Amino acid sequence: MLDALLERNAAWSAEQNVREPGYFARLATRQRPDFFWIGCSDSRVPANVVAGLDPGEVFVHRNVANVIHSSDMNLLSALEFAVDALHIREIIVCGHFGCGGVKAATEDLPHGLADHWLEPIRRLARSYAIDLSCLEDIETRRDRLAELNVAEGVRRVSETPILQRAWARGEDIRVHGLIYGLKDGRLRDLECTVTRGYATSEAVG
Ligand code: CO
Repeated sequence: MLDALLERNAAWSAEQNVREPGYFARLATRQRPDFFWIGCSDSRVPANVVAGLDPGEVFVHRNVANVIHSSDMNLLSALEFAVDALHIREIIVCGHFGCGGVKAATEDLPHGLADHWLEPIRRLARSYAIDLSCLEDIETRRDRLAELNVAEGVRRVSETPILQRAWARGEDIRVHGLIYGLKDGRLRDLECTVTRGYATSEAVG
């Protein structure tokens, strides 16, 4: 299986060089992505592919169920690099319908370490229990919870000192929330974009 993967890579590299001679040499000198994508690790939601972007166009961080833990050094390091070094101005938190992580967070079964990781989603489910119970079936409730998790992620990213400092410097950074449909391959804007002017004190108040 690995041999086949390496063969596909060799073919892709050769084709790319034919299509655009010097492509890799140019890309190797620097990256200037317009977007920072925070998404789910699910193999069906690859950032570049679903957003129609080429190598070099999106900086990516993915984890199970795109959870934003405000002490996650992996996420924070990537976020800081995206904002301070790459000067990315469009940050996207992207969840998806049919998310296995969201499903696991709604089940009364032990999932090992994932239960710790997914705790913020369980907390959201408790906070919105009444709203969610109005939805007719479990799949719809989970999909709504996936949307709520994205909106919560947008808020948490916006509250990090990294974003607060960047906005205080006057930088025009936008944090967007999107949801992806596995069944139709479409990205939807959840219209929970946070822009400059969003202060932590307002969020807390
Ligand atoms: Co997922």
